[in-house]
Amino acid sequence: MRMNILGIETSCDETSAAVVQNGRVISNIISSQLIHRHYGGVVPELASREHERLIVSVVDAAVNEANIQKNDLDIIAATAGPGLIGAVMVGLCFAQGMAYALKKPLVPVNHIEAHIFSAFIEDAPDHTPPDDSFISLTVSGGHTMLCIVNQDLSYKVIGRTIDDAAGEAFDKTGKMLGLDYPAGPLIDRLARKGDPAFHNFPQALTAQSRTSKSYHDNFDFSFSGLKTSVLNYIRKHDESFIKNNLADIAASIQEAITSVLVMKTIAAAKKYGLSSISVAGGVSANSGLRQKMQEACDRQGIRLFIPGIVYSTDNAAMIATMANLKLERGKTEPNNYDVAPFASFRG
Ligand code: KG4
Ligand code: ZN
Repeated sequence: MRMNILGIETSCDETSAAVVQNGRVISNIISSQLIHRHYGGVVPELASREHERLIVSVVDAAVNEANIQKNDLDIIAATAGPGLIGAVMVGLCFAQGMAYALKKPLVPVNHIEAHIFSAFIEDAPDHTPPDDSFISLTVSGGHTMLCIVNQDLSYKVIGRTIDDAAGEAFDKTGKMLGLDYPAGPLIDRLARKGDPAFHNFPQALTAQSRTSKSYHDNFDFSFSGLKTSVLNYIRKHDESFIKNNLADIAASIQEAITSVLVMKTIAAAKKYGLSSISVAGGVSANSGLRQKMQEACDRQGIRLFIPGIVYSTDNAAMIATMANLKLERGKTEPNNYDVAPFASFRG
């Protein structure tokens, strides 16, 4: 028997719907809202309106591409938070209406939990979750979190950002350099042609930083100092210097962000004696991070799980996949319709 799960994701600025059939992604439609580019960041009210404008056609496209009818859907899954409240509500209320009309259960999904398991999506490079507990690094525009993930889908959060998220650090420093939103992928592209040792930007809460005494056990992150440092650097140099050395500056910023992420993730795996690491969320698309993390894991004999690029940034395939995993592991709370913009991550 076929089990079809429709996933809906609308927590930020991607309107996405996907169908997962017996655990395999058979369609994954993602419409990225371009409207926010004019404003240099996501405007929540505009995001909600765009979701509303797009949701019907995106869901239709996902169902059509899966070559099924809406009546063939067995479960409707949607992001219930964390995210922008209006944006989450559009997707969750739509899912609620659809579930009610089709008389099918609704499975609410935590966006961060879905990111964590996106590293194991069927056509990601390696899709079998490890048998043992593992360390997960989630790095997106809104979150930077290190946690231990257990087989029973219980989690222990061991570190978070105390200010900006890693994606925010990319976006905000990129904006200072005159790059469009989201600047993360643009810094990534520039950095490929640049020298990461061109300038030493600060790496906070690490052995190199003087502000942290107990850096060995400190798995928290901080990126606000980097932001200030980049701002001061730009102020100290004239426009043509910045323009002429843009690739080197981008590479140096990327180096500062990714070095801390790799260092702390590896340190966490060693401290807790775990031999697998997963990295997920929009920033896991970063080519510098992927390479650095892979090299560090290889050196330590650690297995690395990382999603294919399409599953790194927000997508509904990860929502449907997470619902599937929750069902498999008996962890569903079907027909719970609460919208939770600040949904806490159980840790
Ligand atoms: O997971 P995501 O799509 O949305 C949130 O849940 O926040 O992550 C978006 C973030 C943005 O900050 C974006 O700049 C960053 O991921 N990002 C990247 C790359 N691709 C996306 N950052 C660095 N390098 C990339 N290649
Ligand atoms: Zn996300």
